[in-house]
Amino acid sequence: MTDVRQDLEAELSLATLEALHQVSYHEAGLILAPEKVRMVQSRLRHRLRETKTATFEGYLALIRSDAGTDERRMMISALTTNVSQFFREPHHFDILGDKILPRAQVKLKAGGRFRIWSAGCSNGQEAFSIAMHLLDHDPSLQDADFRILATDVDPKVIAFARDAVYPDRMLQGIPDHLRKRFLQPVDNAGQPAHKMTDALRQLIRFKELNLLKPWPMNHVFDAIFCRNVVIYFDSPTQDALWPRFHSVLAPDGVLFLGHSERVPAPEALGFCMSGPTAYDKSPTFDTNLPDTFKRQGKLNGTS
Ligand SMILES: C[S@@+](CC[C@H](N)C(=O)[O-])C[C@H]1O[C@@H](n2cnc3c(N)ncnc32)[C@H](O)[C@@H]1O
Repeated sequence: MTDVRQDLEAELSLATLEALHQVSYHEAGLILAPEKVRMVQSRLRHRLRETKTATFEGYLALIRSDAGTDERRMMISALTTNVSQFFREPHHFDILGDKILPRAQVKLKAGGRFRIWSAGCSNGQEAFSIAMHLLDHDPSLQDADFRILATDVDPKVIAFARDAVYPDRMLQGIPDHLRKRFLQPVDNAGQPAHKMTDALRQLIRFKELNLLKPWPMNHVFDAIFCRNVVIYFDSPTQDALWPRFHSVLAPDGVLFLGHSERVPAPEALGFCMSGPTAYDKSPTFDTNLPDTFKRQGKLNGTS
């Protein structure tokens, strides 16, 4: 009882916020600006309760300690913004169906593979939208060498996406014919909900991955969706990501960003803008890029 009262009363000072920012920035590129102090305080109160820590200073000591490795992940999870929706920014799905799919069909016919990465996938709505849209256009993809890798730094959203049970209030944006084909009603503790079909789920690998750390995949992608993720990073963090995305895009691959995100000076980085926040990899670009992309083995099941 004493603990709970102390948690509710614990105040986050600007000095402690700055120290927490150092950790969150180093861990995941997340910026905790002074004007976010109330938001951070409210998001982390739950973590104080869970860890039975009475003050934010105590919590800071915990996440800085060797014993705080798991709690650092939980802190990042609590601080990330996971807002997403199905078929968000629909113009990107037009490019996917009209441009990327026909090229992939040629590749698949020639014995190649078709790979898409949803980087910063949140609860999985983006990856499932991609899968539904592509299967709707070409049902033969179900049995083709086609896979979607969907990754996020937040273990909670990855667990949710793997489960693939969505309360009905989260299903807006899915056209009726796709709902009928790819979603099955389930009982979710008395709440109306739907689960994605196994056929859809088997196309997607959900993995925990921090974009700031090494990327373990060892193949290239025909499209990368990294939408509404880099908006939370500062310019140096974003600038370190562009060459890394470039290096894991297929020669005719496309990088999609969110509506308020941009690759600055795309030509200098080997991209050319081909649609609203859609960047083609430039075919003629000299890939003498900085050695920021380190290959470190393989993610299970992502090849
Ligand atoms: C607003 S959601 C975007 C979801 C989806 N891409 C969309 O556009 O609807 C941002 C996601 O980026 C993830 N994220 C933030 N920092 C990250 C990092 N360093 N590495 C990987 N994912 C990160 C968050 O956990 C969150 O789920």
